[in-house]
Amino acid sequence: MMSQAGDSDKGLKRTLGVGNLIALGIGAIIGAGLFVRTAAAAGEAAGPAVVVSFLIAAVGCAFAGLCYAEFASMIPIAGSAYAYAYVTMGEFIAWIIGWALVLEYALASATVSIAWSEYLNNLLGGAIPYQWCHSPFETSLDGVRGIINFPALVILLILTMILIKGTKESANLNAVIVFVKVAIVLLFIGIGWSFIDTANYTPFIIPQSSPDHDTWNRFGWGGVLGGAGIVFFAFIGFDAVSTAAQEAKNPKRDMPIGILGSLVICTILYVLFSYVLTGVAHWDEFNTAGKEASVAFAIQNHMPGYGWLATLITVAILAGFSSVILVMLMGQSRVFYSMSKDGLVPKVFSELHPVHRTPFKANWLLLIFVGAFAGLVPGSVAGDLTSFGTLFAFVLVCIGIWVLRVKNPSAVRPFKTPLVPLVPILGVIVCSAMIFSLSTETLISALVWMVVGLVIYFVYSKNNSNLRKEKKS
Ligand code: ALA
Repeated sequence: MMSQAGDSDKGLKRTLGVGNLIALGIGAIIGAGLFVRTAAAAGEAAGPAVVVSFLIAAVGCAFAGLCYAEFASMIPIAGSAYAYAYVTMGEFIAWIIGWALVLEYALASATVSIAWSEYLNNLLGGAIPYQWCHSPFETSLDGVRGIINFPALVILLILTMILIKGTKESANLNAVIVFVKVAIVLLFIGIGWSFIDTANYTPFIIPQSSPDHDTWNRFGWGGVLGGAGIVFFAFIGFDAVSTAAQEAKNPKRDMPIGILGSLVICTILYVLFSYVLTGVAHWDEFNTAGKEASVAFAIQNHMPGYGWLATLITVAILAGFSSVILVMLMGQSRVFYSMSKDGLVPKVFSELHPVHRTPFKANWLLLIFVGAFAGLVPGSVAGDLTSFGTLFAFVLVCIGIWVLRVKNPSAVRPFKTPLVPLVPILGVIVCSAMIFSLSTETLISALVWMVVGLVIYFVYSKNNSNLRKEKKS
């Protein structure tokens, strides 16, 4: 694997510096989770204590992030969690994790492209007819049934073409977008701060008294945890930095900085953003008039004279969603690249473009797969499956760190996860708890996905894998 990583003449190009990597992380992290789910978590589960929910989710991600950082500096190749499992726990577990990562990266791209379509239509004042921007499984309040989500397909196509053009080009576009979206988040925090009504913070923990909210994870301290499950989506993506390890100039030093740096920056922004949002508007408004486009709602209704900021935020959100999709699509193609190099998926997934040296065929095939979800499936279904795939990968990466410390204690580790096995164990506990807080339907769908993966493994991958071929010869 390490010789594969060093094969810079024929392989992926090493073009990304530490700034690019942090930007890649922020590019993948700040998106629908912050701009859509913050208000949902406040309204449905945590009230103003959504600030604490963000901190809890961040702690869970930090345990996993520390483990990712050790692996990414040690094994700087494209496959991320898939590759780490391949090295530590063998081909079969690696296949399982690679298959779960498809849920994370491919379905996150689909989920966010659906959110992109919603916000575009919002910006255009609802000009796109309902049936052309919704899945056939959705029907409008006045009975119009969706046909296909066309804008979602268009944004996927555009971003796929940019990805094929080159990693450096994609990283540059991403950097511009990251600048815009971080600026807008800071602007909202800065301007919104003076419009905070401290009465909105009382009570900070909403009592669990309403009969509508009688499940354990709705309001009260349980609601703060339930809110963490909802806003977890907002953190997905820091791990995507690790899929670019094979394109990093100095992965041993820069990978940990890229992964942990983007996580820390986003956590600070998220806590401040959610504090201001729930201070400007009362959390219960996010259950009624402010349920959709909540940030724009809060500005329009509570920050007089700042209507322009609401429009600017919508434009920045559209740009922000694009970078999430870009990095997720890139992550997925890089995971397939590694799996294909190991013989577990067909060779077509690792064929590089003769000029741009990007896995262009994988990008086109992925567009068809992701496009099918984005065009035809409702966003909520894809979103929860994304969380499952990510958490599952986090759990296995945490276990992998511990396994490798035992199996190969003397390996060179440019970055060491502190307090092993405590940090990996805590990572497994927190991430497993978040998995079990997902809905039963999501868990069943994920199980079906994993069973399909096992069938493919035993029918195709096991017989075509490099390990198998080596054993035969
Ligand atoms: N963290 C990404 C988002 O919030 C997936 O859109």
